[in-house]
Amino acid sequence: MTKIGTPPSVDELDMATILQGRRLRRPRQADWSRRLVRETRLSVDDLIWPIFLVDGQGVRQPVESMPGVDRLSVDEAAIAAKHAADLGIPAIALFPYTDPSLRDEGATEALNPGNLVCAACRAIKEATTDVGVITDVALDPYTSHGQDGLMVGDEIVNDPSVAHMTVQAILHAEAGADVIAPSDMMDGRVGALRQALDAKGYTNTQIMAYAAKYASAFYGPFRDAVGSSATLKGDKRTYQMDPANGDEALREVALDVAEGADMVMVKPGMPYLDVVHRVKQSFSVPTFAYQVSGEFSMIHAAAANGWTDLERTMLESLVAFKRAGADGILTYFAPAAAERLARGT
Ligand code: PBG
Repeated sequence: MTKIGTPPSVDELDMATILQGRRLRRPRQADWSRRLVRETRLSVDDLIWPIFLVDGQGVRQPVESMPGVDRLSVDEAAIAAKHAADLGIPAIALFPYTDPSLRDEGATEALNPGNLVCAACRAIKEATTDVGVITDVALDPYTSHGQDGLMVGDEIVNDPSVAHMTVQAILHAEAGADVIAPSDMMDGRVGALRQALDAKGYTNTQIMAYAAKYASAFYGPFRDAVGSSATLKGDKRTYQMDPANGDEALREVALDVAEGADMVMVKPGMPYLDVVHRVKQSFSVPTFAYQVSGEFSMIHAAAANGWTDLERTMLESLVAFKRAGADGILTYFAPAAAERLARGT
């Protein structure tokens, strides 16, 4: 008799009966076999690289809370776009740091055809046509209060914000943007943008809807990067979603698809993989996940402390999006991941 706390001897275990040959470890024994049965693969084609823009010439300004990420002047953004194309990254996404002197209540700089985003679109399109350009449609980098929409009193007013953003989107399309990505979470904006783009002849300009975007604490470093953590008063809970809700995400996606979204997105990413999975299963539309700034910075911070391996954590976090059903990932790791994937896994 074995004493409690002492394992039985191997001879005492009747493993043949217990397992009946079902040894799931069998295919894991060799690399060739693991590769053969691998269900999902991360490829450079899955990556979208978000890039921050800043005024000036030859400027690369480090974002303190995002290791290795810089704000780039327009000329540097064009160089980055070429780099992305060389790496095989299909698309980049642009986010401006608007000079504080240009931010106002009415988000007027968003409607300046010479603003940073429009200038960057033009410069990038001149530098390369091998990378898709996605622009962010929302007002937070332009408002003095840091909200994504216009305010009347304490309220973020839906319909006037949508009207403002239709003009913003047309300017982006005119400047050469391939994909308009509304991140504002106002109701009806996808339909309004589609109608406005079509009316101006931009029938081929795609819309990637931030369909299920949550009021998340994981956006902190991004707000540093675009300068809205300094301006933001209050929070975004009257338009961004409650992190506790999953069914509501499906209703948001259903509306955006009906209104004409070509692609939908879930944001943040890793804490919301269940939502990514449900969206892909329910709608079978191109579904993207945004691995947001806070996720990126957490992964970096743990690695910087020696607690995790940066490269392996990066790759594991990205392949998890694919396993959940995402068709692609917006990630600040895009260039590092592309380089790593090019070396082979
Ligand atoms: C705002 C916007 C945000 C992000 C993208 N667009 C932040 C916010 O809603 O406050 C976050 C991206 C990130 O954290 O990486 N329109």
